[in-house]
Amino acid sequence: MQASFRLTNGENGKENIIYTKIIPGKSWSFRILYFFLIFLVLGLGLCIISMNMVRYFGLQYMTLKESSWLEPCSDNTNSLECWLRPPSNLMHNMNDTELFWRATFAPRIKEYPYKRVPKLAFMFLTRGPLPLSPLWERFFKGNEGLFSIYVHSMPGYRANYSRSSVFYGRQIPSKVTEWGKMTMCDAERRLLANAMLDLSNEYFVLLSEACIPIRNFTIVYRYITKSRYSFLGSYDDRGPYGRGRYDKRMEPEVTLKQWRKGSQWFEINRELAIRIVEDKIYYPKFKEFCKPACYVDEHYFPTMLTIQVPHLLANRSLTYTDWSRGGPHPATYGKKDISKEFFDRIVGRKMCVYNRHLVFLCQLFARKFAPSALEPLMSLPYDVFGY
Ligand SMILES: *[C@@H]1O[C@H](CO)[C@@H](O)[C@H](O)[C@H]1NC(C)=O
Ligand SMILES: *[C@@H]1O[C@H](CO)[C@@H](O)[C@H](O)[C@H]1NC(C)=O
Ligand SMILES: *[C@@H]1O[C@H](CO)[C@@H](O)[C@H](O)[C@H]1NC(C)=O
Ligand SMILES: *[C@@H]1O[C@H](CO)[C@@H](O)[C@H](O)[C@H]1NC(C)=O
Repeated sequence: MQASFRLTNGENGKENIIYTKIIPGKSWSFRILYFFLIFLVLGLGLCIISMNMVRYFGLQYMTLKESSWLEPCSDNTNSLECWLRPPSNLMHNMNDTELFWRATFAPRIKEYPYKRVPKLAFMFLTRGPLPLSPLWERFFKGNEGLFSIYVHSMPGYRANYSRSSVFYGRQIPSKVTEWGKMTMCDAERRLLANAMLDLSNEYFVLLSEACIPIRNFTIVYRYITKSRYSFLGSYDDRGPYGRGRYDKRMEPEVTLKQWRKGSQWFEINRELAIRIVEDKIYYPKFKEFCKPACYVDEHYFPTMLTIQVPHLLANRSLTYTDWSRGGPHPATYGKKDISKEFFDRIVGRKMCVYNRHLVFLCQLFARKFAPSALEPLMSLPYDVFGY
């Protein structure tokens, strides 16, 4: 076997032709070529294996943890998964106009062409820290893939959660929020809109830093997803703190008969969330004509949704609040209040309607709890809350 290598001698420009005899296994150049080929094949093999590993484990991880760490989809990975993937980073630079517009995208075909596991979005409206977060961490543990968390706090506040926390990186772009003013409803709509960007979120629960879960996740998930109605408090209060806050200038959009009141802490499904975020009819009326002593967060959503979709409302809230002490603020419980008997008393013996049946399980969350309540709450026996 013979091969010729043509070399150019740079100095005199003359071409020298060198003939080399190649005897298999003995020539150096053949060995180099041989090793080179082996490396090439090995390298290619490794490359293919690692690409498949990334795809396999990437997908596995996605179904487990909803892929929050994965890169956003680029042009060459334009599959259905990419469209369904929630944003990898909750921080964005859309303003409310842009965000609300984006959030109200909704499919017209109602059957999903994939197995959709509906998630609960827990939306925390807070001033700053979440002092009861260890209790929530315990509540969420083991239910990954069935919930997502969003936190709206005062703009200056920097959250400081460890990477292993369910609250890590769940802060959304926030604005100043004042109690009883329209900025409060703006914050609630902002929370909804951010949560709606994840297409898996189907139910939206509004909570504050003083709220605690008083049932385990399994029960909360079942109760909410099996309900035919959304849990938004809405009733006609004929007294001064109800109808007394109505302003006739809201007509014809809102009449006195349509005026409703209800707790701010709601649970609604996606359909109602879209209605709240897209609303341009009632918003200007409430913004202009419901100012303190009319507290817009107690009237806007209950009134608007009772006008639009009364048949979808349970007209009651899932969050226990104690107004029995009177005054504009509900009772706050601290260290000394917490005991098994206390929870038996507040959540036990009441009856309510659930899917047209009378049931004993009426509330899943409770407020208000001071930071000092955390320690006794954490040491309550398992059977009080079931988690
Ligand atoms: C958001 O930005 C758009 C485009 O610049 C502007 O038209 C809109 O008024 C802004 N909305 C808010 C709430 O600032
Ligand atoms: C954040 O938390 C860590 C430990 O959890 C603490 O050492 C650190 O000082 C905190 N930083 C701030 C700014 O609060
Ligand atoms: C809630 O109230 C509305 C009217 O205010 C009513 O039409 C609807 O049936 C009520 N929902 C339930 C579950 O009773
Ligand atoms: C949730 O609570 C219920 C009732 O308290 C209990 O029967 C069930 O075992 C609990 N589930 C889990 C996963 O702990």
